[in-house]
Amino acid sequence: MAQVRAAITGVGGYVPPYILTNEELSKMVDTSDEWIMERIGIKERHILLEDGKATSDMATEAVNQLLEKTNTSPDEIDMLICGVVTPDMQFPATANIICDKVGIKNAFGYDLNAGCSSFLFSLVTASKFVESGSHRKVIVVGADKMSSIVDYNDRNTSPIFGDGAGAVLLEPYTDGNGLIDSIMHVDGSGRHHLHQVAGGSLKPATFETILKRQHFIYQEGQPVFKWAVSKMADVSVRMMERYNLTPETLKYLVPHQANMRIIEATAKRMGVGTDKVMMTIAKYGNTTSATIPLCLWEYEKELKPGDNIIIATFGAGFAWGSTYIKWAYDGSKYAK
Ligand code: UT7
Repeated sequence: MAQVRAAITGVGGYVPPYILTNEELSKMVDTSDEWIMERIGIKERHILLEDGKATSDMATEAVNQLLEKTNTSPDEIDMLICGVVTPDMQFPATANIICDKVGIKNAFGYDLNAGCSSFLFSLVTASKFVESGSHRKVIVVGADKMSSIVDYNDRNTSPIFGDGAGAVLLEPYTDGNGLIDSIMHVDGSGRHHLHQVAGGSLKPATFETILKRQHFIYQEGQPVFKWAVSKMADVSVRMMERYNLTPETLKYLVPHQANMRIIEATAKRMGVGTDKVMMTIAKYGNTTSATIPLCLWEYEKELKPGDNIIIATFGAGFAWGSTYIKWAYDGSKYAK
């Protein structure tokens, strides 16, 4: 019997309309367009400004678009996993809220938090349900309202992050295309370099934690940078070797969009030219769980069945990994 693989059969995406440019950010903190472009490679990022709107609202937009594109009814969805670090609330899960807003009534689901690697960890987890035959139409969402935890007084972190959401539909395929393999890792000793100090059970919210600005992102940029460059490349090179993939036979590398220099260093270690690297960082920044599905959304029209794609990720935790996918459909069929 032909092996069942979980194949991506559609991609939806959403970024909120408001654009925060480097020029505007330079009026908020001591920074400049030149510094941000040279050190990070971000020109602008989209921010969800509307009052009363949260991560689930952006995710709902992405999922609705995905369902419309793929001509799928919400009733057909039997599972939804949401990769997220900025859930609407500590509980219940944002996945439940998305299902309610979209009208998905016959599914189970949950949130998965692996820092910036949340989407890829969710994709790999969801693929097991599809491969086992227990679930046939599974949505994987990556969504984050990073502006809700960014300190716009901190020049070290405020240029980096943006808001957005992306979603993919996974279905069982037996033609050899789909998710082929993944190499995933965590190392919790890295948690000290990138985290949110307060708001969890270790340090619940108090007046003091608020005064100390401990509900915002805390990041030591340099160690995170070094780990990201080495780990993302390590697992991706291993994946290429495992399947005898070469820069010529690879269609695209899809790296987490944290820093242009990290992306370029990873591609270089893999021997892959930047023309084969999906990049959205300049216009969306680091949308955390949404970077990878937003890349797939932007480049979908260029993808054809059988295309070899490597997705690489690194994030807080530390959590990182690489996934090899053989693309399953002609993305140009959805081109507007
Ligand atoms: O997605 C989750 C994973 N996260 C990441 O992958 C982020 C990884 N880290 C990075 O991308 C980089 O480390 C940063 C972009 C965060 C920082 O870049 P860097 O080249 O490592 O800069 P740095 O922190 O070493 O700072 C260099 C200098 C410092 O000044 P001094 O001490 O040399 O005088 C900083 O104060 O740059 C200064 N600086 C800035 N200057 C202008 C830091 N941020 C800014 C800024 N504008 N926004």
